[in-house]
Amino acid sequence: MLNALHPQPQDKILQLIQMFKDDPRTDKIDLGVGVYKDATGLTPVMRAVKAAEKQLWETQDTKAYTGLAGDPAYAAAMQSMLLGDTVPADRLSAIATPGGTGAIRQALELIKLASPQATVWLSNPTWPNHPSIIKYLGMPMAEYRYFDDQTRGVDFDGMMADLAGVKPGDVVLLHACCHNPTGANLTLNQWSAVADNLEKTGAIPFIDIAYQGFGDGLDADAAGMRLLAARLPELLIAASCSKNFGIYRERTGILIAVSPRADKRAVVQGNLAFLNRQNYSFPPDHGARLVTMILNDPTLRADWQAELESIRLNMLTLRASLAAELRRLTNSDRFDFLGQHRGMFSRLGATPEQVETLRRDHGIYMVSDSRMNIAGLNAKTVPILAAAIIATGI
Ligand code: LMR
Repeated sequence: MLNALHPQPQDKILQLIQMFKDDPRTDKIDLGVGVYKDATGLTPVMRAVKAAEKQLWETQDTKAYTGLAGDPAYAAAMQSMLLGDTVPADRLSAIATPGGTGAIRQALELIKLASPQATVWLSNPTWPNHPSIIKYLGMPMAEYRYFDDQTRGVDFDGMMADLAGVKPGDVVLLHACCHNPTGANLTLNQWSAVADNLEKTGAIPFIDIAYQGFGDGLDADAAGMRLLAARLPELLIAASCSKNFGIYRERTGILIAVSPRADKRAVVQGNLAFLNRQNYSFPPDHGARLVTMILNDPTLRADWQAELESIRLNMLTLRASLAAELRRLTNSDRFDFLGQHRGMFSRLGATPEQVETLRRDHGIYMVSDSRMNIAGLNAKTVPILAAAIIATGI
């Protein structure tokens, strides 16, 4: 049986981790995988997470199973952080999942269960694992235009023209904020136009939110998603706590389904719990419990928000200084888009060959589509990257 297996394509993001490790150069710069790093290159355990872990160690008296959907207190705390009070609780169902990827996978399985013919629409480009999982599940998939290679902003006209073609019951996957891989995001007016389109076509929004708090702030980053939640009868949300709580390896995510009516909630919740049971039974609890403790304790929450805000501001400073350095070197505003993008990523707009040159000649690692992780920079490496960009003719 095992002889019948063929090699799988390498994940182009995760592949970079190994390539970077194997590079002996000491002045190499890692702008690859989407992990936050401070100025010393460390991905720190956040202060509030450490404090919650200490409390948990002192007080937790069992590791017995939670419910199939995870701890309801986790769902309540996350619903409030994500949606505020936009949707009444009796329309909300949720399951804890292993990370954001787990939430995306479970959402796709739910879509397949409810509506196997539905086409899932993805932004072009999107996080490569979206199409990969959809293809693996054998679901119909389509793309809508998203990024304008010239302006490095959102190609909103193209996006709306493509979304005019969605069918009732199709699913449109949207990044709530900090678009991965481009860093280009919708304005609130544009979210409103997307809501008009979804109302008109009868398509269902599916929101991937993995970077809440990394763009313009916790509430601002959720504003577009909340606008859709307030206007549309159905919505799926796959959220990750990996980045904003810095608990990558704890695999902490959640899938939330907004039902059209309260009397549908129990069936939706039952289906979500069923999917957890089929795939892994009980979801991981450690990270979810830390998140619940932090969100429900005013002192821990304030400290977490303060640290998250300093992470956000640090990335904004790096963006501004990279854009300023490139402005100085080129005597033009060609790279000003770097200061306008939000979140960890920006698509630089380099060819795969130029990305390869940056790696070979300068030890600078980024994804082949020229997605850079801005958090991989620091004050010392900003001018080095800027000079390498110019030397490479980008
Ligand atoms: C990324 O896009 O780099 C992160 O979300 C990590 C991953 O799993 O790809």
